[in-house]
Amino acid sequence: MPSYSLNINGKTLTADADADMPLLWVLRDVLDLTGTKYGCGVASCGACTVLKDGKAIRSCQEQVQNVGNAKITTIEGLSEDGASHPIQKAWEKIGVPQCGYCQAGQMMNVAGLLNQYPKPTDEQIGSMMAGNLCRCGTYHRIKQAIKEVIDNS
Ligand code: FES
Ligand code: FES
Repeated sequence: MPSYSLNINGKTLTADADADMPLLWVLRDVLDLTGTKYGCGVASCGACTVLKDGKAIRSCQEQVQNVGNAKITTIEGLSEDGASHPIQKAWEKIGVPQCGYCQAGQMMNVAGLLNQYPKPTDEQIGSMMAGNLCRCGTYHRIKQAIKEVIDNS
């Protein structure tokens, strides 16, 4: 089985995994970074979203052999204390999550959105967040929290 040296949350981590193993499973099952969630496995829900060189990607669709030297950021790496990133602060202030299952993916998608568009329009927010599903229907509060981040940046 090949061994991969991966840049994850600013650290170099080694993972022994089949070349075609999705990054999602490398994170969860090999590296024990279980904040990234499995929802659908087919790029339809966004639960598994992480950043690859600052861009939001679906980790269920990214084979470990294609990660290379890219910088991967997971929800565990958004801030060191798990609370001080502006997105985390806004989520807490607005009280966004219900069951919480989709929220790591939502927050990482927002991080990718704001890397791309620091002051996104409503249209950009709508289209970038459309693929992140929430069975609990927290969409209104997600939008409020995104506005909070933008207003305070
Ligand atoms: S688990 Fe990857 S998009 Fe649903
Ligand atoms: S908060 Fe429950 S699925 Fe989104």
